[in-house]
Order: sequence, then structure tokens, then C-alpha cells
Amino acid sequence: MKNLLILALLAGVLAGCSQGSPPAAVEAERPPERGAEILVPFKQDLKAALVAGLAEGPAAAISACNVEAPGIAAELSVNGVRVGRSSHKLRNPANGGPDWVTPLLDAYLADTSNRSPVTVTLDDGRSGYVEPIIAQPMCLTCHGEVLAPDIAERIAALYPEDQATGFAEGDLRGVFWVEYE
Ligand code: HEC
Repeated sequence: MKNLLILALLAGVLAGCSQGSPPAAVEAERPPERGAEILVPFKQDLKAALVAGLAEGPAAAISACNVEAPGIAAELSVNGVRVGRSSHKLRNPANGGPDWVTPLLDAYLADTSNRSPVTVTLDDGRSGYVEPIIAQPMCLTCHGEVLAPDIAERIAALYPEDQATGFAEGDLRGVFWVEYE
């Protein structure tokens, strides 16, 4: 079971990042490559934390996400770069992200066929980049419609305001976002 989860995770991560041209509604003023590049270590570290946790069981993986995910984002947010994950259905209310992310997230929700990354120029002249996060089968252990009772209990204890359940495979789970010079 553990091995299956890990395989599913790896497959999900590999299949998870689609690239394409930006939608017409949002003007893409800079190429998306830089934002995508900055996200590489963020995704890798998150995946490593989840895989290490899942090797010990979903309860340990919840602790890994709970303790390590915010730390990973903080560690990579240096030298004028900030990275994070946000969602319309947050588990951790601290993951709301900067204001400029909200309309871009809403645009993905309004057109669920659009999975293209977007790069925008922010008010202060810096760049912002977002990319959809799609729910993969292995994510549903902790974000699906039905959670195992021990997992549900642990999540409820850590995140009393949790909204991040009820997802199905292929749903928009949220976005990765990046700010850079
Ligand atoms: C073992 C349980 C578990 C699994 C499996 C899991 N997550 Fe999470 N997820 C969490 C926890 C716990 C948090 C809260 C982390 C924090 O406090 O920042 C979280 C947070 C998130 C967030 C940040 C936004 C928010 O709601 O706070 C996103 C996006 C996310 N998960 C997507 C995914 C995706 C995509 C997958 C599958 C590749 C996945 N998760 C698999 C437990 C899990």
C-alpha cells in the first residue's frame, strides 16, 4: 500500500505540470520560463517531504506537510523571490497568498479547461507567476471526498478551519505562485 501511494505520487507529480500559452484574458508580459524555473526546487522539496512522510504512513505525511511545507516555502523565499501555494479551498488559512493571485485563481476556476501558466507584471514592477495545481489520485488520501477516519481526525485537529477536502482527480486544487524581480 505504501509503495503504491509513492508510485502514484511520483506519477502524479510527473503528470502534474502542464505548460502552454497564456490565456487571452490575462496579458502575459513576460515569458513564463523564469517563474517555472524558480518553482522547480519548491516542487522537489515538497515532493521529497511528502514521499518521506508517506513511507511512514499518512499520519506522518500529514505532519510532514504541516511542519515542513511552510518551512520549505519560507526557505526558498529569499533574494527578492517569494514562492507559495494557494487555493480557493484552503487547509491552512496562512496559505492565502498575495492579493494579485486571487483574480488569476478565479480565472482558472471560471475556465476549468485552462491550465496554462500565467506571468504578469505587479504594481511594484516585479513579476508574478502562477501555475495550476491539479488533484492527482494520491492527493485524495488527504484532500478527497472521503478520508480515512484517522486522517480526518488528525487534519481536523491541526486545521479546524479546513476547507481542502471534497476534491476529485483532475480538479483544480489551487495554484503555485511566485514573485520575482
Ligand atoms: C498526507 C496528507 C496529504 C497529502 C497526501 C497531500 N496533502 Fe496537500 N496538504 C496537506 C496538509 C496537512 C496541508 C497544509 C500544509 C500547511 O500547513 O501549509 C496541505 C496543503 C496543501 C496545499 C496548500 C494550500 C492549502 O490548502 O493550505 C495545496 C495546494 C495542496 N496541499 C495540494 C496537494 C496536492 C496537489 C497533493 C497531491 C500531489 C497533496 N496536496 C497531497 C496534506 C496532504
